[in-house]
Amino acid sequence: MENALIKSESDYTNKYKQSTENPERFWAEIADNFTWFKKWDNVYKCNMKSADFKWFEGAKTNISFNCIDRHLENKGDKTAIIFEPNNPNEEAKHISFKELHHEVCKMANVLLNNGIKKGDRVCIYLPMIPELAITVLACARIGAIHSVVFAGFSSLALATRIQDCSCKTVITSDGGYRGAKTLNLKKIVDNALTDCKSIESVIVVKRTNEDVNMQNNRDLWLHEELEKVSSTCEAAILDSEDPLFILYTSGSTGKPKGMMHTTGGYMVYSAYTFKNVFQYQENDVYWCTADIGWITGHSYIVYGPLLNGATTVMFEGVPSYPDFGRFWEVVQKHKVNQFYTAPTAIRALAKESLDWVKKHNLSSLKVLGSVGEPINEEAWNWYNENIGNSKCPIVDTWWQTETGGILISPLPNITKTKPAFATLPLPGVQPCLMDENKKELHGNNVSGSLCIKFPWPSVARTIWGNHQRYLETYFSAYPGYYFTGDGALRDEDGFYRITGRMDDVIIVSGHNLGTAPIEEAINEHENIAESAIVGYPHDIKGNALYGYVIVKNNPNNEEEALHLRNDINALITKQVGAIAKLDKIQFVSGLPKTRSGKIMRRILRKIAEGDVSNLGDTSTLLNPEIVDEIQNGKI
Ligand code: PRX
Repeated sequence: MENALIKSESDYTNKYKQSTENPERFWAEIADNFTWFKKWDNVYKCNMKSADFKWFEGAKTNISFNCIDRHLENKGDKTAIIFEPNNPNEEAKHISFKELHHEVCKMANVLLNNGIKKGDRVCIYLPMIPELAITVLACARIGAIHSVVFAGFSSLALATRIQDCSCKTVITSDGGYRGAKTLNLKKIVDNALTDCKSIESVIVVKRTNEDVNMQNNRDLWLHEELEKVSSTCEAAILDSEDPLFILYTSGSTGKPKGMMHTTGGYMVYSAYTFKNVFQYQENDVYWCTADIGWITGHSYIVYGPLLNGATTVMFEGVPSYPDFGRFWEVVQKHKVNQFYTAPTAIRALAKESLDWVKKHNLSSLKVLGSVGEPINEEAWNWYNENIGNSKCPIVDTWWQTETGGILISPLPNITKTKPAFATLPLPGVQPCLMDENKKELHGNNVSGSLCIKFPWPSVARTIWGNHQRYLETYFSAYPGYYFTGDGALRDEDGFYRITGRMDDVIIVSGHNLGTAPIEEAINEHENIAESAIVGYPHDIKGNALYGYVIVKNNPNNEEEALHLRNDINALITKQVGAIAKLDKIQFVSGLPKTRSGKIMRRILRKIAEGDVSNLGDTSTLLNPEIVDEIQNGKI
């Protein structure tokens, strides 16, 4: 990858120019860094109108081979993964590329032994333990499609995801540790599987040693399965466009969207962006604090780093356990050079005493990263001064599950940073801003809908089983352009600042939440007629959720009201997951609606934000009187 490293600002400018003038040559040169069993016929063949994307078509490769086998000769003994357990008293594990190869081959054989074939979907529902990365790479090795579901999701959310892509097996664990809590993962899986006919087996990793129910003819212990297999497993020869994984993301309406990514383009792009955005050098230790259940973990804990032969830290715990110094203790312990986290974590830690930071030696740090939501200036400055000692550039990386890799970001020590700005597109990425008339806004000092006008190698290929929805969601608002769903501005220097979602997706603590599934969960309550969820600014989470709920029989007293609120959050926890719980719940007698029956969320948002000075024209509403009632109501 060294020849793809951007080395200076002028190098960036030149490479950017080359990438737009001759994208074929630009991407072919980068792709030459990998092992291809057969070279491509075309670098790309893409159609932004029909959302048809093919990269390195005709080529044969294997991403697991490129992540592991390719490094065995020169750095077999180098540490690939450092596993830092939840409990700081449990020893960290250093897994070399050689050991990773051994483990991944064995896991791949376990899958094959249990009837998993190329193209089969494998659901992975695991805590952040090495087996998670190993299973991901084992699937990739045999051409099975992994669908990792974040282990904080409820059994219903898990079931929906298993059903949507008809997974054949689930890999889970008896339990998981997260801070002071223990998660009963196997029990959640058991509940989910009461309604998942496609599942033939469940493979269970032992982590917490608690008693679990093992169902005959379905459930298998991984340690027993591993005893039956050899550690030799040739990497399957796969097409560049063979599916690699499905990862679900919330939509503003309907069920979650299974974004499907394929092999070759994703490989080239995740590796290229990792190398450049973090300026990774051979002996660096890189740590991304995300969970592999999200795209950040896929691209920048597993694939991007390992494709570069990097040492990547996998952390099982949370920033507050056993105390608020945990992140910094881990940075010191493993001499982390690049540290990548989310604004919500930064804001939460910035609220605590600085002593937690000062107690630790953070001098190994060279680059700091931020991802998942806009980072406010205050958090940016705190991160810069207290963690980076004003010496580490902050890369505010903007991207999405759908984009597969980082699209807009500063390059550390190469391009300029600016608080709260994701700044400039990476080479190969052509962002633009559109106005209300669907016309592209030229020049600087403009704001509009953020679109991308040229394909890049790791764009999702489709929504699993529903290409029409893929087209409608991303390619129909601005025909010929990919619409991100985000609003952005371009300042006088041409730097991009992401201003937030333009749809009904709300980002809470960096997690994308669609309002529809939460509302559906609430409406299940027998005493609730209808509900509407909006986001409002929150100091730590970025946004928190505010629910307006129409109750059939009003609670008679505070105690009953509290009871109902708890019931609502319990329903949400069950159906969507605890991350979607509401911070505020207001009982109302109606919701402001247009004459066509659509809820006017704009008004609800303003009330939730406490900004009622400019509610706009409410006279066209079907029920304008309700606005006053809601405004004056209490929660
Ligand atoms: O709104 C943007 C926000 O997160 C959305 C994508 O969420 P998800 O698919 O879960 O992926 C998150 C990790 C890549 C985007 O549409 N977002 C992500 N990064 C940033 C951001 N908003 C502002 N600044 C960022 N750096």
